[in-house]
Amino acid sequence: MRTTPAILVSWLLMPLTLLPAAEGKSAQSAGSIRPGEVWLDTTGRPINAHGGGMLFHEGVYYWYGENKEGRTWLPESTRAWDGYRVDVTGVRCYSSKDLLNWKDEGLVLKAVPEDPNHDLHPAKVCERPKVVFNPRTKKFVMWMHIDSEDYKSARAGVATADRPTGPFLYLGSVRPEGQDSRDQTLFQDDDGKAYRIYSSENNDTTYISLLTDDYLRHSGTFARVFVKRRMEAQVVFKHAGRYWFLASGCTGWDPNPARSAVADSIWGPWTELGNPCRGPGAEGTFGGQSTFVFPVAGRTEAFIFMADRWNKTNLPDSRYLWLPLRFTEKGFEVTWQEAWRLDYFPPRTGQRVRGRAG
Ligand code: DGJ
Repeated sequence: MRTTPAILVSWLLMPLTLLPAAEGKSAQSAGSIRPGEVWLDTTGRPINAHGGGMLFHEGVYYWYGENKEGRTWLPESTRAWDGYRVDVTGVRCYSSKDLLNWKDEGLVLKAVPEDPNHDLHPAKVCERPKVVFNPRTKKFVMWMHIDSEDYKSARAGVATADRPTGPFLYLGSVRPEGQDSRDQTLFQDDDGKAYRIYSSENNDTTYISLLTDDYLRHSGTFARVFVKRRMEAQVVFKHAGRYWFLASGCTGWDPNPARSAVADSIWGPWTELGNPCRGPGAEGTFGGQSTFVFPVAGRTEAFIFMADRWNKTNLPDSRYLWLPLRFTEKGFEVTWQEAWRLDYFPPRTGQRVRGRAG
């Protein structure tokens, strides 16, 4: 192609915002999901929602995660295990109707820099936020891992909002069932009951606690599962009336083989099924760590596995791995894809999906 001087000059004078976001052409804008690449929001900024989870509410997906911003540094108190950190800034939310174009809804829960004793002070830890909607109280309820810089306080924090996009009001934190609580997730069952699943007993054992009907407290009914199996990054989801589980081992920000399990009741017994990852990098969860699994609305047998590929010395540049999760005769599998589209999953029978889902 020949470029005339006039065209060249007008190109050079073009405001930066009009330039195509070079490499940053969003993974999603091309209609495909490209695990591990930089994913941009609808304004062209990298998506910042780590250790996150998904809520589908009234036709909209809400993606909540840790806002990782500012310098990554290694405190003396966590040096022994490479416990790099960024100071707490809050929890960010994005919304989307198509799982491809993500609108930044801002910090829906903000750090509290003015009170050094507050759980959300920048010097603390706020990780793995998850949100569910309570149909009885009409509140959006967020639970998260709250900790001190040295990860010794190990608490579960809770916040609520009237709208999915917040603002969330922080209510406080607890040590549930009289124990420590670190990595965590939420699971809402079809009958409206909600559970918090978390690492306890110094990460040795996973706990499953039934929440109260308002989802704001632990009911006192709980189970100790995967005793002494040392897991983090727990995920629970339901398919065909059974409960499915994913987790990682405990190696800080570094990857390790994923674990999976199945049970007929959330209380167990849980049967371990091994590492469900397949393809290049499967033995190290493709360089990532699980954070959530969710069903895609309007599609059959369609579940997306969400993971974080942490960059421990530059945590804000940690990337997202989303991969299709497929059920098999023995359990489920997550197979590596360089790039994939949502029409990987067939549309629900009897429903027409216009054009390509991407
Ligand atoms: C692994 C956990 O899964 C993360 O959420 C975070 O707590 C890191 N450890 C800290 O090293």
